[in-house]
Amino acid sequence: MGKRFYITTAIDYTNGAPHLGHAYEKVITDVIARAHRAMGEDVFFLTGLDEHGQKVQQAAAAEGKDPKAYCDELALQWTGLARDLGLSNDDFIRTTEPRHRAVVHAILTKLHASGDLYSQPYHGWYSVKEETFLTEKDRNPDGTWDPKWGQVIPLTEENWYFRMARHQEWLVAHIEANPSFIEPSYRRNEVLGFLRSERLADLCISRPASRLSWGIPLPFAPDWVTYVWFDALTNYITVPAAHGDPAVLEPLGLPATDPSVQAKPVSLWPADVHVIGKDIIKFHAVYWPIMLHAAGLPLPRQILTHGWWQKDGHKLSKSTGNVVDPIAVIREWGLDAFRYYVLRELAIGPDGNWTDEGFQSRYNAELANGLGNLLNRAVNMLGKYRQGVVPAPSHELAADAARAVEATTQRILANDPQGALVAIWDLVNRANLYVEQTQPFKLAKDPAQSQRLDEVLYNLVESCRILAVLLVPFLPDTSRRMLGQLRVDAAPNWSAAAWGGLALGHQVGAPEPLFPRKDLKAKP
Ligand code: MSP
Repeated sequence: MGKRFYITTAIDYTNGAPHLGHAYEKVITDVIARAHRAMGEDVFFLTGLDEHGQKVQQAAAAEGKDPKAYCDELALQWTGLARDLGLSNDDFIRTTEPRHRAVVHAILTKLHASGDLYSQPYHGWYSVKEETFLTEKDRNPDGTWDPKWGQVIPLTEENWYFRMARHQEWLVAHIEANPSFIEPSYRRNEVLGFLRSERLADLCISRPASRLSWGIPLPFAPDWVTYVWFDALTNYITVPAAHGDPAVLEPLGLPATDPSVQAKPVSLWPADVHVIGKDIIKFHAVYWPIMLHAAGLPLPRQILTHGWWQKDGHKLSKSTGNVVDPIAVIREWGLDAFRYYVLRELAIGPDGNWTDEGFQSRYNAELANGLGNLLNRAVNMLGKYRQGVVPAPSHELAADAARAVEATTQRILANDPQGALVAIWDLVNRANLYVEQTQPFKLAKDPAQSQRLDEVLYNLVESCRILAVLLVPFLPDTSRRMLGQLRVDAAPNWSAAAWGGLALGHQVGAPEPLFPRKDLKAKP
């Protein structure tokens, strides 16, 4: 049982509909997962929903619904998003599932037994909106509270705390010794800067059930429910445990649940990559490693942090209507056009800006005129001049293709799907330029140039085949349609991207446009 490449997204709150930011995170994670599969690795990709806590309880109450019924309804929308994005996830976790509660209980029980948790009354200022106690440092210089905290009230309550500071030096040493633990490096520096300059306060990991009932009760104190972040982070080990992974079951003293799982345990933990947004880095790069370390579990190998999307230079916001509905875009333009734009427009790290003009311009220039036109010309000319029969192999573009394959692999290993697409489009552009330079439509008119025409046609269709193989993780449907037109079996693996795969005499199919051209909306 070899360890699988285990990659996760953050789990989304079930307190509203999905938007561009959520969809983006899923797409970049899906691409990394599919690319590792294309490199021959055994991959496990997990995504899901974070259903407990005050935000969700309040959202359900606002609609006059029972929180579980409210979450069940919304979960349909979110699993629908996963389907519409074409995600290749291997499981989908909901934190309201019994399998999750069992693992949250196990880790809490272990930390309680090891003396990492204690209870104590606390009096302080509490932000209802952010579900957090505030300190004097959170006040504005004039003594007021920033509106981002919403309503701030004085509150005294007994709660359970996790001793954090005792693990601080160990965590700093771990981050220092493992440069790729937090990516990009500027996020790593932020975390290190914070950990070196401040002593970690103990983390409040409970909420009194009297104030917040929508959560997982503490196993040793059922009048409290588990703090939503402690609950949510645990999802990453719930799924390995549920699939029988001894790396989680053994340290937590859990039995493998059902016999079918016992018969075929998986090896997932530690996670290879947790993909998250920049706003939740402290939870993933500070609290989560400390929770795992204190519970005797190995740490994830990497926390990969992406930036935030805006639209037209402004924050996405339902109240101002500044939103991008990924499902509506997919309905109008197709899934792969959406995947292409978000991957190509924004590297993993910095913030991005969606514009409809930018989207349409990439669609027309890079998808329709770039890739679509290349395939169309190649298949069309082969049909017209050679009845769709592939001529003998020729190697003129072989080095360009090899460069694209190499760069795509390297860029993926560097968590840079944007760079990978740039490398793939270098080959698209090279092949389109090759058509201009060699002018096969002119060669076709001169019988003396028949052999030259054969060479040119081979280089074009073989470049298209390699492009289709390389595009499998990025634009799965487009890749399938390209291979369909070339009458080549779906390529499971990037090893099929070696030059010379199309054999003499192979019959290709009929051309069919990949990306129907759409007119840009008229400028006002
Ligand atoms: N439930 C927590 C995560 C728990 S993970 C153990 C949460 N949920 S969320 O729904 O608010 O956000 C889910 C993910 O979407 C986060 O990684 C967040 O950064 C990301 N995004 C939310 N808005 C975004 C943008 N505008 N742009 C890009 N990503 C954004 O946090």
